[in-house]
Amino acid sequence: MTADQLIARDVAPPNRPATEAERTVELIRASFAAVEPQADELGKHFYSTLFTRAPETRDLFPVNMEVQRSRLLRALVHVVQMVDQPDDLVPFLQQLGRDHRKFGVLSQHYDAVGEALLSAIATYAGDAWTPEIEKAWVGAYGTVANAMQQAAAAERGPASWMGRVVDHRRIGWDLAVVTIATSEPVPYQAGQYVSVETPHRPRLWRYLSPANAPRRDGTIEFHVRAVENGWVSRAVVAHTQVGETWRIGPPMGRMAVPDNADRELLMIAGGTGVAPMKALLDEVRRRPNPPRTQVFVGGRTWEDLYDFTALRKLSYSEPWLDVIPVVETEEEASGAETGTLADVVTRYGAWADHDVLVCGSPSMIRSTVSRMLVAGTPLDRITYDPFTMD
Ligand SMILES: Cc1cc2nc3c(=O)[nH]c(=O)nc-3n(C[C@H](O)[C@H](O)[C@H](O)COP(=O)(O)OP(=O)(O)OC[C@H]3O[C@@H](n4cnc5c(N)ncnc54)[C@H](O)[C@@H]3O)c2cc1C
Ligand code: HEM
Repeated sequence: MTADQLIARDVAPPNRPATEAERTVELIRASFAAVEPQADELGKHFYSTLFTRAPETRDLFPVNMEVQRSRLLRALVHVVQMVDQPDDLVPFLQQLGRDHRKFGVLSQHYDAVGEALLSAIATYAGDAWTPEIEKAWVGAYGTVANAMQQAAAAERGPASWMGRVVDHRRIGWDLAVVTIATSEPVPYQAGQYVSVETPHRPRLWRYLSPANAPRRDGTIEFHVRAVENGWVSRAVVAHTQVGETWRIGPPMGRMAVPDNADRELLMIAGGTGVAPMKALLDEVRRRPNPPRTQVFVGGRTWEDLYDFTALRKLSYSEPWLDVIPVVETEEEASGAETGTLADVVTRYGAWADHDVLVCGSPSMIRSTVSRMLVAGTPLDRITYDPFTMD
């Protein structure tokens, strides 16, 4: 379920008959829930059908499929369940379709993936697989695949960009700031994210958020936190070498500072969500009249606020900017507010007259946005990337 769906469920249970798209999504969700306990077998069936049907697709995936056997499958099911939100979903799918060019995905592969998906779910659903359920899956997958294929076919820019590591700075044991110089500028906007592939983990692409607005010299800074048992993040933090080459996918996401920023801004960042916030601040700073901006930056403990000093320094030199640190556990004399970001931000009120940008893990986004809606912040003033997965 997406942050959007969870937020909608938390805040306002629908009090009207379900639309056609909502019924489709209900059928898809219920039929997938019934086969989910067999996700491992289903994943194996999916990939073996795909690789039999279109053997050339095997080379697009990591050599060791055990590492992430169900990644594409998980993503597919996640996305297909969101066809009841076309306004948000279609722009996301267009970006995803353009992004898939970097894997070498061709138009004909979409049929093969669709057949493998349906065959796997039908097989494990057994007698519960009805014509009505099949119709729901075929329709939803078709909608998703079409949007991705059309956007990929229309794109004329590069499928990916090469970048050289020019700096790798460790900040504590689990975090590194990596600076990449790309051969051609990557056309991202401050606040967006890109996927990257490193030489340490070929074909394991991961999303990272640039921590600076685009620069003339084409350098991009990434903040990478090593997660427990993480294949890519641990290798990046521990083993990145200056001079190595990374591949970078096209920009994705909808985080941006509104052009007509006549309202004040509120930015809420958790964990490495501070990276896109820094990029956004970098952008705001270049404007002739930066709007007043309040930033809340949060973590579980003071150590998690790894970049707070830089943000505070920026706030001393920029009169339009104010930064408040937030930690979940009480720490004496840290000067931080205590609580989750959702607790602390809503303690200040509804922020109804601000444009609000929220960035962090899906669970942090979900709790912060839903609490703000309850506190009275209008939904259309809040921007976050709703389709990211844990
Ligand atoms: C839109 C977006 C932007 C992102 N931006 C950044 C960024 O700027 N910097 C950054 O460091 N990361 C960022 N991430 C997370 C990043 O893409 C990877 O998911 C993360 O680095 C883990 O990859 P891995 O290969 O090391 O872990 P995997 O091998 O994929 O997973 C290993 C284990 O860690 C768990 N796990 C996966 N991701 C996380 C996570 N984020 N936190 C805690 N546990 C996790 C998995 O459930 C699994 O159990 C972003 C993710 C998204 C969706
Ligand atoms: C039509 C619907 C499709 C959707 C919604 C979709 C979605 C996604 C998403 C969101 C990811 C990233 C997962 C993550 O990193 O967390 C992904 C990865 C990937 N997709 Fe797709 N995809 C689709 C079709 C295809 C097709 C047709 C191919 C071609 C074979 C393909 C090949 C891949 C590969 C190779 C990866 C990376 C490998 C992996 O992480 O397992 N996808 N897909």
